[in-house]
Amino acid sequence: MSDAASPPEAKSSPEPRSGSQAKPALTRRAFFKGAGVVAAGGVIGEAVSAANARAYGPATLEGTVEVELDINGAKQKVTLEPRTTLLNALRNHCNPPLTGTKLVCDRGSCGACTVHLDGRPVYSCMTLAVDTVGHKVKTIEGLSPRGELTVLQQKFCEHDGSQCGFCTPGFVMAITACLERNPAASLDEIQNACSGNLCRCGTQPQIFEAALAAGRALQAKGGK
Ligand code: FES
Ligand code: FES
Repeated sequence: MSDAASPPEAKSSPEPRSGSQAKPALTRRAFFKGAGVVAAGGVIGEAVSAANARAYGPATLEGTVEVELDINGAKQKVTLEPRTTLLNALRNHCNPPLTGTKLVCDRGSCGACTVHLDGRPVYSCMTLAVDTVGHKVKTIEGLSPRGELTVLQQKFCEHDGSQCGFCTPGFVMAITACLERNPAASLDEIQNACSGNLCRCGTQPQIFEAALAAGRALQAKGGK
């Protein structure tokens, strides 16, 4: 009798071929073809390195480049591999480290890493740091340089918009960008602005209340 919970029986390996049917592990032709691909890969790799050096300056360590990032209104030189994400650069290459931007999924599905790039919300885990050269990055730390709460952050507190808090910086950045564009944003517009942000603690209703309350407060202050 078969048992659905049991793992399927492992298939036995096929019998090795024998005699004239046996296939050699590696032919001379396959070897030279492979060597050609490796050589071509080396040439392409050198071309990419040269292009990186032209675009981002000379490499200081093998495989790294020095770039100047504009973060929260200050220029900062960092040395990193071209593959480094903006999220990684903020948290691990900046001095001091900017850890307010959270690493959760690291694959563009939760929004915890949301920052502003030239005023628009982006996933920093899906953005290469070198691609932000010449653009302005703003993180949660940059919203209130003196440490005071913004109107939206104050409303998050008043409306219990945060539980574990891991999603909070991402929501704050997404909603801030929305309210900067339009302090009179409707619930639909706010929900749309946060459509790339997940809260696993289920605080979305309070977050939306906080966003609407912040919008009203900003309108009363003339949008500031
Ligand atoms: S950490 Fe970037 S989207 Fe989740
Ligand atoms: S408050 Fe915990 S994930 Fe949103």
